[in-house]
Amino acid sequence: MGQVVVETTDLTKNYGGFTAVDKLNLRIEEGEIYGFLGPNGAGKTTTILMLLGLTEPSSGTVQVCGHIPTRDPIKVKRLVGYLPERVGFYEDLTAVQNLKYTAELNRLPRGEAEEKIAALLATVGLSQVADQQVNTFSRGMKQRLGIADILIKEPNLAFLDEPTVGIDPKGIDDILNIITNMARKGITIIFCSHQLPQVQKICTRVGIFAKGHLIVEGPVKLLEKQAPEEGQYRIEVQVAEPVPKLAELIKGIKGVTDISGPPELLLITCSADLRPQISRTVVDSGSSLIGMKIEEYSLEKIYKEYFHED
Ligand SMILES: Nc1ncnc2c1ncn2[C@@H]1O[C@H](COP(=O)(O)OP(=O)(O)OP(=O)(O)O)[C@@H](O)[C@H]1O
Ligand SMILES: [Mg+2]
Repeated sequence: MGQVVVETTDLTKNYGGFTAVDKLNLRIEEGEIYGFLGPNGAGKTTTILMLLGLTEPSSGTVQVCGHIPTRDPIKVKRLVGYLPERVGFYEDLTAVQNLKYTAELNRLPRGEAEEKIAALLATVGLSQVADQQVNTFSRGMKQRLGIADILIKEPNLAFLDEPTVGIDPKGIDDILNIITNMARKGITIIFCSHQLPQVQKICTRVGIFAKGHLIVEGPVKLLEKQAPEEGQYRIEVQVAEPVPKLAELIKGIKGVTDISGPPELLLITCSADLRPQISRTVVDSGSSLIGMKIEEYSLEKIYKEYFHED
């Protein structure tokens, strides 16, 4: 197991009587690209602000790179890069001048800084406009500059809050590639988004936020694999002392399309949530029903459920 970079226990943030983040338990390891996926107002940004020590938690604990952000804000700032939802630069300075300013703040020796800035601008595809004022930059260019700005201090961990909002498809691909390369260099990434396809493309693990709660968490590949087809449900039934004909009886229920697994642990595919019918069939057959689980951990399904409420 890798080193734990972010750990929270029951992390909570109240704004007056409103709970923006509710008892969040996160554990993110070195090298992960962890996606915070969630609709508007789910609590993603609030969580990031608490992890950065920019907002005091109402209760619960946070550790980032071994430090408590509100107690050791300077140590955390040194180790962590943050690309906010709206990245701010000195608009009347050039890209290079802005990055030089960041380099100075991070006490980089001047010679080293110049070389590094040139290399980073190349990395994010801004070499051509290095000496152009930022107020001439498009949104996508500013985001790229924001990433270069993070990379200057070689952080252990980077928070990227909606880095692709308002950017065209080609620009999005470029930014996602830059992020993947950051991770390859060993930077742990927290990627905040409400775009499922982007999270699927680059994240190793995802936590889905809704109304201040982490409703599902897991490796992206696993959650994808479990996704049943459109309009299909998968129900897992655990049975003790199954009668020989049980599988056949369940197969006879209207809406059941497939059944597999050993008699003690049946995996049923069906076109509706048939839990009531299945449990009745199991019990009526004389078998004992131990447990039943409906598979709802499909990224696609959860996405649809929580992201298009309007
Ligand atoms: N400073 C604040 N004062 C009061 N309420 C706030 C404050 N900041 C955030 N909230 C509320 O907390 C909830 C979570 O907001 P947050 O910005 O964390 O959501 P988000 O998941 O980042 O959403 P988005 O996808 O729109 O960026 C929202 O209902 C928001 O209105
Ligand atoms: Mg946000």
